Amino acid sequence: MATIAPRKLTLADGAALLIRVPERTDHSRLTELDRAGASEPELTGQLPGDPVLSDSERLHWIMRMRDGGSALALLAELEGRLVGFLECRAQDYPRGASHVARFMICLERDFRDRGIGRHLVETLLDWAAAHPTLEKVSLGVLAGNARALALYRKLGFTEEGRRAREFRSADGAYLDTVMMGRFVK
Ligand SMILES: CC(C)(COP(=O)(O)OP(=O)(O)OC[C@H]1O[C@@H](n2cnc3c(N)ncnc32)[C@H](O)[C@@H]1OP(=O)(O)O)[C@@H](O)C(=O)NCCC(=O)NCCS
Repeated sequence: MATIAPRKLTLADGAALLIRVPERTDHSRLTELDRAGASEPELTGQLPGDPVLSDSERLHWIMRMRDGGSALALLAELEGRLVGFLECRAQDYPRGASHVARFMICLERDFRDRGIGRHLVETLLDWAAAHPTLEKVSLGVLAGNARALALYRKLGFTEEGRRAREFRSADGAYLDTVMMGRFVK
């Protein structure tokens, strides 16, 4: 089973970053971060009013993510403040795709462009590479999300295709989704 020990890192600006799996006590902060995603639909694909997990669903999610199976959640704690998270899970259907894991990631707005996203995704890739059945990590990113596209390319993800007009914003504008993937074995 592939597990992740907490990682203590120092950012280029000297700030202390801890990457770790979630604890039960993180649930309200995680819900706040989740809700914040709706304020930037062109990046996250969430719309204002999209449902977020209830407290009990979030606790259940935390326990599932901690069991070390084919799903992983990573939190970024900067100087003691939870500033972002990543969630990844292997596809469970169809079973022929169970060697592929998909992920999403979101950092609080004020904590971007400091290398935290890179550390989270690198930690995910290490986990996936050590996982007994995973071979590939994939994701979809909205076409205008230049920062995310740049980060994924730098980490070895390649563009595999584009889904046209997959997202429609509240004002009716459409965005394509860029499909990206990276083999870990
Ligand atoms: C996308 C996200 C996870 C990236 O994390 P991050 O900590 O901000 O990113 P990092 O600082 O690790 O790396 C970003 C890289 O992109 C570069 N970059 C930033 N803006 C860019 C732009 N407009 N064009 C090209 N490159 C850009 C940075 O210079 C950096 O590269 P470097 O490390 O070589 O300097 C984070 O910004 C985020 O949560 N955004 C909002 C939600 C979101 O977009 N989620 C992803 C959905 S797929």
